[in-house]
Amino acid sequence: MTRKIALITGASRGLGKSAALHLAAQGVDIIGTYHSAADEAQAVVAQVEALGGKAAMLQLDVSQSSTFDAFITQVGSVLQEVFAQAHFNFLINNAGIGAHASFAETTEAQFDQLVAIHFKGPFFLTQKLLPLISDGGRIINISSGLARFSLPGYSAYASMKGAVEVLTRYQAKELGARGITVNTLAPGAIATDFSGGAVRDNPDVNAMVANNTALGRAGLPDDIGGAISTLLADGSNWITGQRVEASGGMFL
Ligand SMILES: NC(=O)c1ccc[n+]([C@@H]2O[C@H](COP(=O)([O-])OP(=O)(O)OC[C@H]3O[C@@H](n4cnc5c(N)ncnc54)[C@H](OP(=O)(O)O)[C@@H]3O)[C@@H](O)[C@H]2O)c1
Repeated sequence: MTRKIALITGASRGLGKSAALHLAAQGVDIIGTYHSAADEAQAVVAQVEALGGKAAMLQLDVSQSSTFDAFITQVGSVLQEVFAQAHFNFLINNAGIGAHASFAETTEAQFDQLVAIHFKGPFFLTQKLLPLISDGGRIINISSGLARFSLPGYSAYASMKGAVEVLTRYQAKELGARGITVNTLAPGAIATDFSGGAVRDNPDVNAMVANNTALGRAGLPDDIGGAISTLLADGSNWITGQRVEASGGMFL
């Protein structure tokens, strides 16, 4: 049987890396992207290979939509040359950054960067990748618990994630004719490098998250890698247009 292939943006670290390793353990090959961490990206390739899979990493800045046509050409070449395939099966729009600023102090430059990375990027990247996604494929857009509950300092970031959640439903409706499912996966606060590593490295932030989470701790990357690979497993094929939150029950 032909192995499935997942394209994951931001697969060099954090949640994207965990998704790559969980999917590889499930027999899925990986095309990952990184922004600047080329060495970390190559380390993920080695880890996927150690799990018996194949992986390739491509450089991409999701905020630069003018580069997407060249990126799509690169993905097509990698599919042919590395995987001997014309299409890939799963797209995970994951790459992103955190930004903390009160609504009153958010600058236009911060807003523009967040909209480019978290909304315009996934919108047009997915649009341009459509011909390379197999019929019956699946798309997961990574949102955030912050699109459901509100914490001071995340008005711009969380608004972009809210936009992605609306986009998910429209994509599910319009791509259903091709048998493509589209879902939102919304992590709670997870201990990664994200936002300067605050959830992982700041004891006060970590304790605040744990104290407001039903399962009593902050999330770990594997909690999200596992949720993503579950949403992409065979038994999840009838789930589409949904928002699934993986937060251990944060702010219930
Ligand atoms: N961690 C959390 O608490 C949390 C909670 C909810 C949602 N999320 C969302 O989950 C996603 C992943 O976050 P994470 O925690 O894994 O963050 P992370 O550990 O900081 O990793 C971010 C990843 O995105 C890539 N990236 C950053 N800016 C990019 C750009 N402009 N273009 C392309 N790639 C870029 C990075 O590439 P390099 O390694 O090359 O820099 C890296 O692979 C983000 O969308 C974030 O908003 C995170």
